[in-house]
Amino acid sequence: MAHHHHEHGPTDVDWAEMGPHLEAQAELFTPVYERVMAWLGKEVTEPGLIVDAGSGPGVVACLFAETFPGARVVAVDSTEPLLERARDRAVRQGVADRFDILAGELPGVLGELDYPADLLWASRSLHHLGDQRAALTAFAARLAPGGTLALLEGGLPSRFLPRDIGIGRPGLQERLDVVQAEWFARMRADLPGSVAVTEDWPALLTSVGLKHTRTRSFLLDLPAPATDRARTYVAAILSRFRQEIGESLDAEDLATLDRLLDPADPASVHRRPDVFVLGAYTVHTAVRPV
Ligand SMILES: C[S@@+](CC[C@H](N)C(=O)[O-])C[C@H]1O[C@@H](n2cnc3c(N)ncnc32)[C@H](O)[C@@H]1O
Repeated sequence: MAHHHHEHGPTDVDWAEMGPHLEAQAELFTPVYERVMAWLGKEVTEPGLIVDAGSGPGVVACLFAETFPGARVVAVDSTEPLLERARDRAVRQGVADRFDILAGELPGVLGELDYPADLLWASRSLHHLGDQRAALTAFAARLAPGGTLALLEGGLPSRFLPRDIGIGRPGLQERLDVVQAEWFARMRADLPGSVAVTEDWPALLTSVGLKHTRTRSFLLDLPAPATDRARTYVAAILSRFRQEIGESLDAEDLATLDRLLDPADPASVHRRPDVFVLGAYTVHTAVRPV
């Protein structure tokens, strides 16, 4: 099978359609976010304004509002249906009086903020912007003196299954990683105004005038037997792979993936006993000089 660029499907993501998945994922990851916030809170004390750039459905933005009861939180995103989910969540959690939403394209939309941010959080959103360095420059410009920029980017590809799962060829996840990395590269290349940059996040944060970089990784460790929520998450990730990169897999791996996704199959991730979730997420921070 040929692998010419134009034979691959589009790499643009339908974010509105991803709402339920993003929300379920962030809920499953809550123990990680709580530890991230405890770590951030050691240096970011009593923030007045927290901006979540690329908030999606606002699970983390609401967690910020709960963790920092003195802060206003603004959830910023270009996908309005996701921001509506964020606002509904803030109402349900009783933090709506300190919670705003701002719709528009990053990074330009940040110009509409009334105040500079004491903490600007960007989790897996920067990599969807064509010019990441320009976006970081704009993020840094919206920080108050002494304010912190925190990026969640990178980490490790997650693991859900043992190497040998008793069906198909062992090592499926490693092969999915390779194809997923190629999809990610095409996704970035297809972004409007795409600019290639060395993704040395601390160096980039320094290059836009920020100081005192810190990096730490956080483990999501949900061992087997998996809860129904964890299984649903694993199934959602694998079916996204099936959609986005299925055409790049060989017939045997595709057949294995289909069995893993078939709820009627005892070997599927819905029913097999060995499903787990193991992930590592890296956060980089830096501070705007006073
Ligand atoms: C992978 S999701 C991350 C959501 C959330 N921060 C998280 O970590 O789960 C990327 C988010 O960035 C938003 N996004 C993508 N491109 C954007 C742009 N150009 N301007 C504003 N938001 C954008 C999407 O709508 C989506 O909510």
